[in-house]
Amino acid sequence: MNRRLLRECRHLERDDESGRRWSAKNYPGGYTSYNSASRMHELSPTFAQLQRGLDRHVASFAKALEFDLEGRELQITDCWVNIMPRQVVHSLHLHPLATISGTYYVHTPRGSAGLKLEDPRLDRYMAAPPLKANARADRQRWVVVPAQAGTLVLFESWLRHEVPPNPAPSPRISISFNYNWF
Ligand code: NI
Repeated sequence: MNRRLLRECRHLERDDESGRRWSAKNYPGGYTSYNSASRMHELSPTFAQLQRGLDRHVASFAKALEFDLEGRELQITDCWVNIMPRQVVHSLHLHPLATISGTYYVHTPRGSAGLKLEDPRLDRYMAAPPLKANARADRQRWVVVPAQAGTLVLFESWLRHEVPPNPAPSPRISISFNYNWF
């Protein structure tokens, strides 16, 4: 399935002129279908198959977070492709109007940039001292989750994150998505 996803991501970039135009302005050096083909799970059977896998992971993540969804289910709202060649950045952001967000990694050449998560308590630290370099991950102000093809990262949508400049010589390809319960 991953091979099919990779092929479809590359074909989408080639065929999606509107997305390439939007990316040139908003995602310099890279390509994203965020503004042009943001419901890929409805357009492609391969992405629909990916979605069925994501549904299961998102449901167990919601369970682990002890959400009370009042009988409703988290449902996918958006699913889009990101292609980041060398040195392309995705600056700090969160995903408004979503509950759970995440990324599935399709292609991650050696050295690909990870996903950098920011501690949401940063604005409350006041005079807090710096941390030891080897402090536990859950104490760190930023944590980088490595990008590895075939793996999935889920987080609550209020968590700010970014992808630092990609040092890998060839493009890092991922599929991002949002889930919502209202
Ligand atoms: Ni994001």
